[in-house]
Amino acid sequence: MNNYIDLRSDTVTKPTDQMRLAIANADVGDDVFGDDPTVNLLQERVASMFGKDAALFVPSGTMANAVSILAHTRRGDEVIVEKESHTFNYEAAGPAVIGGVQLHPITGEKGILTASQIACAIRPPGDIHLPPTRLICLENTHNRGGGKIYPIEDIRAICETAKANQIKMHLDGARIFNSCVATGLKPRDYGRLFDSIMFCFSKGLGAPIGSIITGSSEFIGHAVRYRKLLGGGMRQVGILAAAALYALDHHIERLEIDHKHAKLLAGALAQINRFSIKPEDVETNIIIFDVTNSGRNAVQIVDILGAKGVLMVPFGEYLVRAVTHLNIDSEQIDAAIRTIQQCFA
Ligand SMILES: Cc1ncc(COP(=O)(O)O)c(C=O)c1O
Repeated sequence: MNNYIDLRSDTVTKPTDQMRLAIANADVGDDVFGDDPTVNLLQERVASMFGKDAALFVPSGTMANAVSILAHTRRGDEVIVEKESHTFNYEAAGPAVIGGVQLHPITGEKGILTASQIACAIRPPGDIHLPPTRLICLENTHNRGGGKIYPIEDIRAICETAKANQIKMHLDGARIFNSCVATGLKPRDYGRLFDSIMFCFSKGLGAPIGSIITGSSEFIGHAVRYRKLLGGGMRQVGILAAAALYALDHHIERLEIDHKHAKLLAGALAQINRFSIKPEDVETNIIIFDVTNSGRNAVQIVDILGAKGVLMVPFGEYLVRAVTHLNIDSEQIDAAIRTIQQCFA
């Protein structure tokens, strides 16, 4: 994939030379015994960034969400999610398969739900026919919502509804730092509103592997057990925690560059009559555009661009997704724009 401009996802990044150096020099120990000093450092650092008691390093975002849902719920419980969320669509029904938990999907606007929608979806307690609503999961930024930032005032209102009904709140914050950089909000601003938050090091932050969950000591105590149950207890994993620490130090502020590139690309796509996209809707590093008027479907558009060396993914029959990231520089954005213009203008 070396000669391609790979806009399929921000998961395709490769560790930089400096990150590889941090990996090579990492102090390690057996993390299942709690002995890995680099993992411990990472977990303490993340907990403190989000104003939480503790954190837990896990192999993937999918496992982070599964572990969090398992740790918050019991079999037969219900979890409110947004219909286009990653958890509902792309996590292999893990909460249902492993946890016996029912996901209750509600349709949002670009992935955003309102407090009143949630209030309507909460099951009234005391009726034996109904699964108890135990947890609300939000996603920020929202992947299928085109990298949409969850407005903090909406989260606050949902949080109040959740508290009034004694329901826990979990954030799939796979790309939370894209949101922090774009809004100027701090991780703690989100930490205050959620019982648990997970984010990924292997997306915009550019690490090869790893996600993390943060929450109360009690919650993380349950989460460690579920991580083990899922086979996610890792041994000398400080080599990966070192990459994650490096990413926290060096790859957060630069997300602004990815957002700038995404805006440029969205602006160029908006100039092409056959495509439809509102550049003002592109808030972070994900661009989703509609190809209905091109006379071709998303797979065909992606194939045409792929043959010219620009990789994107179909995201629905007539929707195409492109994602900017650490391994895409401004020359590659310019080159991608030229290719798109040559193929479709
Ligand atoms: C919003 C969101 N949550 C969770 C995940 C899952 O992460 P992973 O691929 O590490 O399992 C992704 C992956 O793309 C994602 O976009």
